[in-house]
Formats: sequence, structure tokens, C-alpha cells
Amino acid sequence: MPELLPRARSSQESIFARMSRLAVQYGAINLGQGFPSAAPPAFLLEAARRAVGTADQYAPPAGLPALRDALGADLGVDGADLVVTTGATEALGLLAQALYGPGDEVLMFEPVFDIYLPQARLAGATPVTVPLRLEGEGSWSLDLDDLRAAVTPRTRALLLNSPHNPTGRIFTREELEALVALARQHDLWLISDEVYDELYFGERPLSLRTLAPERTFTVGSAGKRLEATGWRVGWVACPPGFAGNLAGLRQVASFCAPTPFQAAVAAALPIARETGFYGGLREAYVARLDLLAGGLRELGATVFRPSGTYFLMACRPGWEAETLVKRAGVAMIPAEAFAANEAPPPGLLRLAFCKSQAELEEALVRLARWEKAGG
Ligand SMILES: Cc1ncc(COP(=O)(O)O)c(C=O)c1O
Repeated sequence: MPELLPRARSSQESIFARMSRLAVQYGAINLGQGFPSAAPPAFLLEAARRAVGTADQYAPPAGLPALRDALGADLGVDGADLVVTTGATEALGLLAQALYGPGDEVLMFEPVFDIYLPQARLAGATPVTVPLRLEGEGSWSLDLDDLRAAVTPRTRALLLNSPHNPTGRIFTREELEALVALARQHDLWLISDEVYDELYFGERPLSLRTLAPERTFTVGSAGKRLEATGWRVGWVACPPGFAGNLAGLRQVASFCAPTPFQAAVAAALPIARETGFYGGLREAYVARLDLLAGGLRELGATVFRPSGTYFLMACRPGWEAETLVKRAGVAMIPAEAFAANEAPPPGLLRLAFCKSQAELEEALVRLARWEKAGG
């Protein structure tokens, strides 16, 4: 019998899928995987109902023109520079295929969103991580000298995620300017994963593209913005002149993202902007963040407050994700899921607060019960 290649053999169930499966199996509150428990907004669902039956066939690989126009208007970029993808996941995978190859190195920050590592390796490249370090409660610091020291003649690209999953960190203007200077000095591509661009709790994050439009590919996700992660609509805003090539590559991956959902997102984007939907979402999430952070602190956990995303990281030595999902009835993601080279401190976990207030309250009750029973 022929054998599978090692790269296929090494693919395992992700920790996110595993925790969601265990949450169902053990009747746990799922604060693990990052998807909202509420239904998407009514204006999005209505747009989808109208689209099914009218927009059902293949879309152009670069995306429905209506969606590229709506995205262009929303993001302030030329629609011709946009490629619609099957979620941000596919966008990042396509960029890995397009921008790096065997022998290349790709810089990224650790803790690292897990798919960046295999996507770089599948492209034949080597992921090189630069650590964000924990500095007491609430801050993850970046030492720009670490970043500069990680650049080699093989470095091809720098992959940034801000607001950052899992830490919730938002990179400052000064840091972004330093990244751009480094990219220009060494002629690197910049990939900016901005799927949480509307989920921030202070000042609006700066998009890397505004500082280096000539070399930045910006990735976004309708699933994250509009609370419909299963719809699989994402996008890449390319530097001028590159969208055609990327669309050519994506047409051999999955040809196009689901057409009715593209049409629905096209209709929903201006409504979301005009009705202040994102602002409402931020208000709701800050309230849930406060609830969860406060409850965790009462249980003795150290909470690292995020500046964006719908995740927080908390540390409680003795807490262990596998035991908590099975015995306490609360699913979380262990920090090891985001580790490449740095061992996270024991008891460091990522919790998603894109869940209902009732679920968050129940999770805290369960954790308190578990603590009281001796853990
Ligand atoms: C940082 C980051 N990038 C990309 C994605 C993937 O987004 P999508 O669901 O649109 O594929 C996620 C999903 O959790 C994420 O957290």
C-alpha cells in the first residue's frame, strides 16, 4: 500500500476542536473555541434569506463584485485590490502559498495563533517566533530588539495579528512603525491578520496597511465581524497589482467562497456600519469581559486584560484545561496551544467571552464549586 506523506500523518484534531468535542461530551460551558453563542444579527440573516435562491451559482474567484465594492468602501481600499476567501483561514493559507517557499523564514509572534505554524510549514517555509513576554498583570511586552535579531537573509515575511489572539494585545503605532521600517530595510512582505479589527476596547487599532500599503496584505473575516463564523467569508486586501494573482491561486483552492453568504455580507456591511452595530458589540463585550475578569479574580486567578478580541488569558496555578472540562464543566484552551518555543507558565489558559451572560455566570459558579470542593 502507498503511504500518506508525513505532513498528512502529522495533522491531528486541533485543541479547539477537541475542547469543543469534550464540552459537548461532558456538558461543559464552552469558553474554549472563539465563536459567539448568540445568533448573528437579524439584518445579516434577512440578507442571507434573500440571497438563497437568487445568488446560488459560482461567484468570480476574486469575489462577488458587490462584496468587493462593499468591502472596498468599508475598508477604504480599491475593490480591485480585494480577494474574497473562504474565511480568513483560507486567506492566510493562500498568502503562505503565494509569499513563502522552501528555505524561507517567516517571522511571527508567540503566543501564536495555531494555524500560522502548519500553514508556513506546508508552504515549505520555517516559522520563526518572536516572544511577547508577560509583564505582571495586564501586559504582554514586545522587545523590538528580539524582533530585529530574528531577521536573517532567509526572512521573507512578517506575520502580525493585532488585535492579537490569544493575548488581546493591540500593537502600538510606534511598534507598527518599527515593523514597517524593518520590513522596508530587509524587503519583507507584511501580512496583517486583522480579523478582530472591530473588537477593541479603547482606541481604534491602526491598520498596518495604512503605514505600508505597498507591501501589506491585510486579512479580515466576516465571520468574526458579523458573528457568523460558520459562513466562511473572509478577505485579503492586497497591495496594488497583486489581487489578480492571488485570485488565480484561490480559484484552484476552493474556486470561490459560498455565493449566497457573499451576497448577504455585501448587503450587511453598510448596515453594520450605519447602525453602529460594531459599537454595540464592543459595549456588550466589555460588559462580559468585566463580568468574567471580575469573577476569575475572585477565584484567585491573575487576569491579563485584553485591549481587543473576545478572549482573555488568565492564570491560576493548578487549573488544567483537560481536567476542568471533564470535572468542573468549563472548557478553556490551554496556553500550550499557542506555544512554539516558549513554555507557558502553569495554569495559563485562554477563555472566550463571546458567550451569553448566563453562560459566563454559570461557568463562574461551576469554577467556584470546583474550587470549593478542593479542585
Ligand atoms: C487571529 C485569527 N486569525 C484568523 C482566524 C480565522 O478566521 P475565519 O473563521 O474567518 O477563518 C481566527 C479564528 O479564530 C483568528 O483568531
